[in-house]
Amino acid sequence: MSIVNRARPEIRALKAYQAAEQVDDTIRLNANESPSTCSTGHFRRPLNRYPEVRPLALQAALAKRFGSKTEQVLVTRGSSEAIDLITRAFCSAGQDNIVLPSPTFSMYAHYAAVQGAEIIQVPSGEDQEFRINIDAMLAACTDATRVVFVCSPNNPTGATVPREDLLQLINERRNLSAVVIDEAYVEFGREPSVVDLVDSHPNLLVLRTLSKALGFAGARCGAVVGNPDVLALLSAIQAPYALSTPVIECVEDGLQAECLEAADRAIQALIDERDKLSQAIAALPFVVKVWPSDANFFLVRVLDARRIMEQCASHGVLLRHFGGELEDCIRISVGSRAENQRLLQVLNSSETT
Ligand SMILES: Cc1ncc(COP(=O)(O)O)c(C=O)c1O
Repeated sequence: MSIVNRARPEIRALKAYQAAEQVDDTIRLNANESPSTCSTGHFRRPLNRYPEVRPLALQAALAKRFGSKTEQVLVTRGSSEAIDLITRAFCSAGQDNIVLPSPTFSMYAHYAAVQGAEIIQVPSGEDQEFRINIDAMLAACTDATRVVFVCSPNNPTGATVPREDLLQLINERRNLSAVVIDEAYVEFGREPSVVDLVDSHPNLLVLRTLSKALGFAGARCGAVVGNPDVLALLSAIQAPYALSTPVIECVEDGLQAECLEAADRAIQALIDERDKLSQAIAALPFVVKVWPSDANFFLVRVLDARRIMEQCASHGVLLRHFGGELEDCIRISVGSRAENQRLLQVLNSSETT
């Protein structure tokens, strides 16, 4: 059985939108486009024309970056859109469920709620340092589990899930659930991506984003790397022309070798800053614990999280507080050296100590 059979029957029956044909060097009177444009932007493709339904050159460039085949990539508007597409493709409202650890990135539960799917959260447990417990997640799966989400490195804890644990999850849910490994922060960690497992594991979907390490959050571009049959289901739901011409060209430029080299240098600088900043924060008297992180942020347990949030905000520095099981924790994104220095200055000021 293929994992495609676990998708919603109505999605499996869906025919992808038939867009007007796009052929170079032809007179295009088939798409109700304007023959002219007043755009002053400088783009390689004419802005009065629709972009490709799916941006093939960008897809190929991303595949090269991820080390996958071109047909194993679906380009999305940020990886947020990918989470939405996967949940909609696999979960029937009021019937199916998703399984995810807690705490983790909130958008998995958000899109499941939008879709009317049940959300089964598996606590990672403070006593276990918020380590994602794959055995507990497997035990929580039911016959109605269509998607299992794991974020690695996890947001907001920063920890990478060992590859053998991910393999166990993917293998044990083979033919039963799509297993989504969200690698939004993988470039900041020590473990390689699991994209190489896509060939041999058709239920694996790897999420990648250009919003973090590559610095393109404003462009809204991400991707799902997975089995082409599963991607065809997601593509049937995704809006035609989802990626606009300015975004396609901006990201194509960002994937050129010299930009990637600059990005690699920026990633290394950020990792160095993360390690320095987290050490300095760990030494502050009101800090109880700093979790080691493989991401561009780290989680900190403090004596009075709300007071520190207010104190920093009053000095124009914004941090993230989630409440609930993380009531006494704050997530700190690593900024530039100057921004990090400013944060330390504020935290060292007498009001917070
Ligand atoms: C784990 C994780 N996945 C996905 C996303 C969404 O990223 P994008 O900007 O690609 O939609 C985020 C954003 O913070 C994230 O933390």
